[in-house]
Amino acid sequence: GNKSASSDASSGGKDGKIIVGFSQVGAESEWRTANTKSIKDSAEADSQIELKFSDAQQKQENQIKAIRSFIAQKVDVIAFSPVVQTGFDTVLQEAKAANIPVILTDRAVDADPSLYKTMIGSDFVEEGRKAAKWMLDNVKTDKPVNIVELQGTVGSAPAIDRKAGFEEVIKDHANYKIIKSQTGDFTRAKGKEVMEAFLKSDGKNINVVYAHNDDMAIGAIQAIEEYGLKPGKDITIISIDGVKGAFEAMMDGKLNASIECNPLLGEQLMQAIKDVKAGKEVPKWIKTEEGIFDTTNAAKEFPNRKY
Ligand code: AHR
Repeated sequence: GNKSASSDASSGGKDGKIIVGFSQVGAESEWRTANTKSIKDSAEADSQIELKFSDAQQKQENQIKAIRSFIAQKVDVIAFSPVVQTGFDTVLQEAKAANIPVILTDRAVDADPSLYKTMIGSDFVEEGRKAAKWMLDNVKTDKPVNIVELQGTVGSAPAIDRKAGFEEVIKDHANYKIIKSQTGDFTRAKGKEVMEAFLKSDGKNINVVYAHNDDMAIGAIQAIEEYGLKPGKDITIISIDGVKGAFEAMMDGKLNASIECNPLLGEQLMQAIKDVKAGKEVPKWIKTEEGIFDTTNAAKEFPNRKY
């Protein structure tokens, strides 16, 4: 079952259950909402697990506080989706000293791998490569292609990796250039705001928007419409996640493509928790399988979407 992090300070093993403290990034996107639901539902359905859930509201300091509180409560396992990639070494050492195994979900950290058991999540670099390859295949030209990039949260693994994967693929194609790149913090509101600024300075010259998630792309679509251009036609828009909102935008012809990033990690997380507690070896990276969707297959795929 689920419990809020602060309501119960008792420690592990009551009713033989595994007490898990989970620190979530926040509620910044449609993806994140689906991810939280998957984790809560899977915990609820698992009679062996009791979940204490804490929301970091996109702030690393909140997340470190939550992890410290889980250590003080002597939970059996700590799991978290790191807001950013660096700066977790000390708190991970503290968990290790307290003999509490740590499992990462969704996002990786830059820390000694012996400080966590496994990372369950996507290959974000590959997602960035897929976005760029889709662009090269679908925006075919020898003329200059001006790209604006809406980055995810500064310092987060998906922002760093999606940028790197995309740049790796376009670097051999000199006419494709990122002319502006700024963070939209993975939210619709910020995506819209940054796109408005890009349009103000480069409006007529922008050919492609590459957004690190669907929410920012949806924000950018609104900005483009308000500016008087046609999203998906005058400007090609490519994003990542594959949430329902993106499918709707693709079916409207306003979003051109969305690279899938699967948020439904709950079941794999519960399994990894039980395996770790049973002393089983788990792979260091439990990778998620993902597809690519665009205006050619969105309508057919829509009824099958689970998030
Ligand atoms: O870490 C995964 C990313 O975080 C998702 O792509 C984005 O939507 C979310 O906010």
